[in-house]
Amino acid sequence: MKVLVTDPLSEEGVKVFQESPDIEVDVVTDLTPEELKGIIGDYHALVIRSTTRVTAEIIEGAHNLKVIGRAGTGLDNVDIPAVSKKGIVVMNTPGGNTITAAEHTIGMIMALSRNIPQATASLKQGKWEKGKFQGWELFNKTLGIIGVGRIGRLVAERAKGMKMKVIAYDPYIKPDTIERLDVEPVSFDELLQRSDYITIHAPRTDETANMINRETIARMKRGAMLINCARGGIVNENDLYDALESGHLSGAALDVFSKEPPGKTKLMSLPNFICTPHLGASTKEAQDKVATDVAKQIVAYLLYGSVENAVNVPGISPELITTLRPYAILAERMGSLQTQLADSAILEVQINYSGTVTDYDMSPLTTAMLKGLLTPILKDEVNFVNAPLIATERGIKVVESKTKTSEDFSSLIKLTVKTSDTENIVSGTIFGNKLIRILRINKFYLEAIPEGHNLLITNLDRPGVIGRITSTLGRYEVNISRMQVGEEKDKEQNVIFLATNVSVNDEILEELRNLDDVFSVRRVEL
Ligand code: NAD
Ligand code: MLT
Repeated sequence: MKVLVTDPLSEEGVKVFQESPDIEVDVVTDLTPEELKGIIGDYHALVIRSTTRVTAEIIEGAHNLKVIGRAGTGLDNVDIPAVSKKGIVVMNTPGGNTITAAEHTIGMIMALSRNIPQATASLKQGKWEKGKFQGWELFNKTLGIIGVGRIGRLVAERAKGMKMKVIAYDPYIKPDTIERLDVEPVSFDELLQRSDYITIHAPRTDETANMINRETIARMKRGAMLINCARGGIVNENDLYDALESGHLSGAALDVFSKEPPGKTKLMSLPNFICTPHLGASTKEAQDKVATDVAKQIVAYLLYGSVENAVNVPGISPELITTLRPYAILAERMGSLQTQLADSAILEVQINYSGTVTDYDMSPLTTAMLKGLLTPILKDEVNFVNAPLIATERGIKVVESKTKTSEDFSSLIKLTVKTSDTENIVSGTIFGNKLIRILRINKFYLEAIPEGHNLLITNLDRPGVIGRITSTLGRYEVNISRMQVGEEKDKEQNVIFLATNVSVNDEILEELRNLDDVFSVRRVEL
């Protein structure tokens, strides 16, 4: 079996391959896409970090490729749908760099507070500017953490060691779980208003993209400092520039950028801005860990077929994969739909399987559902292996039940999700052997294909409403590829599940919400 490593990988990881029987490893970095496309056909496994781009075009010729392993977490550089279509397993190693990323954040907070990078540069120019670089103490200051997952929690612990007051905003974690970390849970608005330092530890999602912008920065304390060691694009860099230039913020530290590498942007010219080139995970320890983890996972898959930390395949035995895969996809999409319907923290998930599907072990399907449920919140951090554990850590109660018979369909999956303020029900089935359908969303019954970019609209069942919706979309050149209408007769309400060629932007959503007789409009990405 041949393994190709195309991004710099720690020696420890390469050694795992070299010491494995029947594995041959080649490390070839700095390949152009054409060069990679030319040689990929010879290999059974590909190991990458964040540089190699794995596109549909590159894997066209990857006839022997069985697995792609990412040493690290982020998979923005891999076209997962295209790779999955070819049956290639994609694995990552979330968590291997948690301590390192938390320590980098603390380093940034300290460097920012005491002007360490600027003072170093000045001294190296032969200057002695003691007065210019007076800083601030961290003692008794308030640190606001956005996202208290793995890294956010470690940052909180370390900041408390420096006697900072720590407050946190994470709408997907129950307030009492945050309190147990000895951190005060607050709303986003309160975090903005009270924090002396704000640090981001949430993934980039639809919700967090551009979360720190002109309007949210304006709500921050004058003189506050901002740190982002999570993902680029969460902070609007133009708006940050204006806030630093005007003095509304006294400093900012970025490890991640909307475009990487960012080049010499105007932010770089500001004395109160410091930065590092995505070094959050760059320590010897973290790189050894993610490299050995990914290498061991790949060897285990190539030699023994065992799947660990896969982002695109549930752990179903090869004999059952054809039968159960459509149900796993259905369960995953139902989970994702449920999270996109929820407006507050998920407390409990009840999953009921009925009909012939109950002849099999349901646990991979429940795992797939949990992965779907957590992915809109955690992105690449969640996979088919860690999803149940993460759900438990987040205090989500999971109740699984089976009913041997299913009234109208050979098999049915019903998923009820309770949040702090509501309960949503979604059910779905498989038509034939593999046609995935959503049959129910709360009180509405329909037959929707859960795939791609969608809008979920509720409206008054009255002539003309659908026309207004479609012509609004048409005006913005959004093409409708499918439309399913479900009705609730006694309330004269409809639900419309509408598939579009692109993800509909916030401006269009707002316009749709303002149409007469339209009650609600949600974007649903599946
Ligand atoms: P995690 O999944 O353990 O935690 C992320 C937390 O963000 C979760 O608790 C989630 O509920 C929360 N969250 C999601 N949406 C939110 C929102 N709208 N508002 C507030 N909170 C929200 O992830 P982690 O391992 O702690 O990593 C955090 C981020 O850091 C990820 O984006 C990860 O990719 C990034 N990271 C960067 C580096 C680096 O090199 N700079 C290294 C490691 C991780
Ligand atoms: C990750 O996704 O693991 C981190 O951002 C670090 C990296 O890109 O390696």
